[in-house]
Amino acid sequence: MPEAWVPPDVGHGIALRPWHSGDLDALVAHANDEQVSHGTSDRFPYPYTREDGVAFLAGRVVDLSAPVFAITLDEHAIGGIGVRTFAGERRIGAEFGYWLGSRHWGRGIMTRVVAAFAPWVMDALELQRLQATVLDFNHASARVLEKNGFSEEGVLRRAVHKRGSVHDLRMFARLRVH
Ligand SMILES: CC(C)(COP(=O)(O)OP(=O)(O)OC[C@H]1O[C@@H](n2cnc3c(N)ncnc32)[C@H](O)[C@@H]1OP(=O)(O)O)[C@@H](O)C(=O)NCCC(=O)NCCS
Repeated sequence: MPEAWVPPDVGHGIALRPWHSGDLDALVAHANDEQVSHGTSDRFPYPYTREDGVAFLAGRVVDLSAPVFAITLDEHAIGGIGVRTFAGERRIGAEFGYWLGSRHWGRGIMTRVVAAFAPWVMDALELQRLQATVLDFNHASARVLEKNGFSEEGVLRRAVHKRGSVHDLRMFARLRVH
């Protein structure tokens, strides 16, 4: 698997690129936000400390040799998007996740990013299936997926314990078009 991914163009001042150590301040500034961590997995903690940022940028939290990119606006990191591949007989599929600093929400940024990233990563990894799981209350994330050709396949009931409550997980997927 190649490690030097060339990410797709997004446009409108938004770009994708690999994370680097100089992103630490921006990463912590945007990630240390209760609203952001609410929608994400516990690998994305709150509070999000500098140590959490250092561990992420060193590749100790997710595999940074996979397509895992910083989302930049005017060259400043404001969020992230990345894919986790499956192995063995499931290697035709992968799961992806994304987040954005809350001051940039609601402007269509993630809709544009997913529109560029999803078809690109499916081609780059030769995927039949790209999936994302969304917590039941996360309607903004579900909309981003629906607007980008993902279909809801079902619900993993009572799958997540988050902040003292039990939640369902909605499964979305986009399939390769033949
Ligand atoms: C989910 C997230 C990435 C969305 O990013 P964004 O750039 O604000 O999304 P966009 O502006 O492109 O689109 C958001 C869509 O959700 C809609 N939306 C926003 N809040 C909503 C709500 N509470 N209920 C219903 N729809 C909502 C918007 O209206 C828009 O849809 P529309 O274009 O049909 O009007 C961002 O909120 C985020 O980072 N959240 C925290 C991390 C997270 O949840 N990641 C996803 C894990 S699955």
